[in-house]
Amino acid sequence: MKNKITKAIFPVAGMGTRFLPATKSVPKEIMSLVDRPLIQYAIDEARAAGIKEFIFVTSRGKGALEDYFDHAPQLEAELKRKGKKDLLEEVKNTNMDSGAIAYIRQHKPLGLGHAVWCARRLVGNEPFAVILPDDIIAAEKPCLQQMVEAFAENPGCMVAAMEVPKDRVSSYGVLDLKEDHGSLVSVKGMVEKPAPGEEPSNLAVIGRYLLTPQIFKNLNSKQTGAGGEIQLTDAIAQEITEGRDVYGYRFQGQRFDCGSKSGYLQATVSFALSRPDLRDDLMGFLHEVVAMDKAAQ
Ligand code: UTP
Repeated sequence: MKNKITKAIFPVAGMGTRFLPATKSVPKEIMSLVDRPLIQYAIDEARAAGIKEFIFVTSRGKGALEDYFDHAPQLEAELKRKGKKDLLEEVKNTNMDSGAIAYIRQHKPLGLGHAVWCARRLVGNEPFAVILPDDIIAAEKPCLQQMVEAFAENPGCMVAAMEVPKDRVSSYGVLDLKEDHGSLVSVKGMVEKPAPGEEPSNLAVIGRYLLTPQIFKNLNSKQTGAGGEIQLTDAIAQEITEGRDVYGYRFQGQRFDCGSKSGYLQATVSFALSRPDLRDDLMGFLHEVVAMDKAAQ
């Protein structure tokens, strides 16, 4: 088995019900933060971590996602003719090399574990990454790159981890810690969406994973877990019970849950404020809104 991680799975077959009716016809991953779709952030993060092959697990209605990665010769020629170099560069960045991108269908939304399992033949017998594009992480060094570097020293399954407030823990996969070494923690158990009061810690799993191919074997049983879905967390927890190493990685960076409306709006504001061309206008507007809100109270 080779040790370098060059393949990433992007599970995007979910129905995105929290964003209905928008997601009736627009895939959630195509919704944009300012002017770049969520999926572009995920692709850029993967590239920075050394990923060369991009595997999308899709479902019906995700055609716009496939189109997004297509080359657009007419558009590129037009931007070139008009001398719009920056925009041309942006558009070229969305192009994927031939053969670098693959799509596979998950025919029924049976859960994240099942979506990952659908990609087993495309990954084969090597470690791989999983990126959930609705978790956006703003970081100086991209989160997946931080994890790949830690993985090189500590091979084994690794999940991105973050402390979350106690009253939110039961919406996440949660780690039971064996040893805490700061950014790296070794894990002795994992539970998906624990009942309130039964959470082993408040260290939650965020949507970045580095996994060994043994995970596909664990998922073969197609056992359902929390919410009646086939859970990736359960397949990773099985690694621990079978005596293999599992780690949590406390990444440096700010995570936005863009699968929720509130997280998506916060990310939009935060990314817009980090843009020199938008910052002043938006800041002025936000001050006005806050002042009006205060005055109305
Ligand atoms: P979510 O739990 O956020 O579900 O999935 P969702 O369908 O995207 O959104 P809501 O909750 O209905 O609003 C987390 C990730 O796992 C993928 C989703 O596409 C998302 O990237 N997923 C989930 C699958 O690919 N297949 C599944 O069966 C379930």
